[in-house]
Amino acid sequence: MLDPLFRQALQEALGRYPTPFYAYDWGRVAAQVARLREAFPFARLFYALKANPRLGLLRRLRALGLGAEAVSVGEVLRAYWAGFPPEGVVWNGPVKTEEALAAVRERSPVVVLDSEGDLKRVARHLPGARVLLRVNPDLPVRTHGHLATGRGESQFGVLPEAVPRLVRLAQEKGLHFLGLHLHLGSALEEAGDFLQGYRVLEALYPQVGPVAVLDLGGGFGLRLDLKALAGPLEALARLYGAEVWLEPGRYLVAEAGILVVRVVGVKATRRRYLLLDGGMTSLLRPALYGARHPVLPLYPREGREAGVFDLAGPACEAGDVLARDVPLPVPEEGEALAFLEAGAYGASMALTYLDTPRPLELLWTGEGWEVLREREPLEGLWEGE
Ligand SMILES: Cc1ncc(COP(=O)(O)O)c(C=O)c1O
Repeated sequence: MLDPLFRQALQEALGRYPTPFYAYDWGRVAAQVARLREAFPFARLFYALKANPRLGLLRRLRALGLGAEAVSVGEVLRAYWAGFPPEGVVWNGPVKTEEALAAVRERSPVVVLDSEGDLKRVARHLPGARVLLRVNPDLPVRTHGHLATGRGESQFGVLPEAVPRLVRLAQEKGLHFLGLHLHLGSALEEAGDFLQGYRVLEALYPQVGPVAVLDLGGGFGLRLDLKALAGPLEALARLYGAEVWLEPGRYLVAEAGILVVRVVGVKATRRRYLLLDGGMTSLLRPALYGARHPVLPLYPREGREAGVFDLAGPACEAGDVLARDVPLPVPEEGEALAFLEAGAYGASMALTYLDTPRPLELLWTGEGWEVLREREPLEGLWEGE
């Protein structure tokens, strides 16, 4: 649930700013950092920019001592712009083009090698770069298929049997091999999935260890039992004599953020709809992988009739429904709703489809509202054409 002060400040924001907008509670992000640090006091944290890359968040996370994890050259350069040093940035991803590699030649981040071809390109363009090798643990991983990067059929990393040869190859090519990388997927709620992943690395130790770094990725679901991971994770690190790096995204920012929309109208076809001024272009997760976001009415409940609604955005797409069968007090036109747990992979996935500007993003600092990103101007949408 939302912090009462944040909840109160939202009413003020509704009077000042156009909807739809994202609002984030900085106190909640800082609290999540503290929770992860408490669970894994021995680990270095690298915030996964893809969850939410706003500079105002990045600068604050850097000030708390986090590094950054990037999955494109754009994110690497954004992290530098936010003040992260190259040694505090980890660059992941299966495709790193020659153009992208050339762009970081003068200031190379720590690069995660994702295949033999990737290794050779990195060695050519970034000689002597500090690298990790990403292991695809070939595990079932219980999460939505789009999010399960640790399955053997995904395009990520190298299978365990290829790891020892590629570690040698990286060293022969003059790369500075730091250690292994493992990222199982996103929104993982079962500690057992992580433990299986750690076992795969344990089995590789005789051929690969010791190493300086084990980067064990992100993927921590909001309801995951972190305590169940800490012991096995520390034991794995001890076995390898390695420092542990983690790359949380969702865990740090998801609950801190909400998408605020206004009700434009009520409509009935064979189903009963609330029509909203924001939809899938602002929050793609429901359409992309059936994600469910709790809905909170930001209007009075007292004296209202109860209804059950599907919540539809403005796009001419039957799939532009942010939630179905939501029990709500019947709103009046112009009243606002919030989609909760939208701070991760919400704004960062927003689209300009249908010439829809990406929404305004606001940060509640505890003392006031800060604009993290203006709503895109309409004219910006056809610039460059
Ligand atoms: C390599 C890598 N690291 C970290 C993350 C962050 O994941 P999450 O936001 O689930 O913590 C991702 C997300 O997909 C990723 O691909």
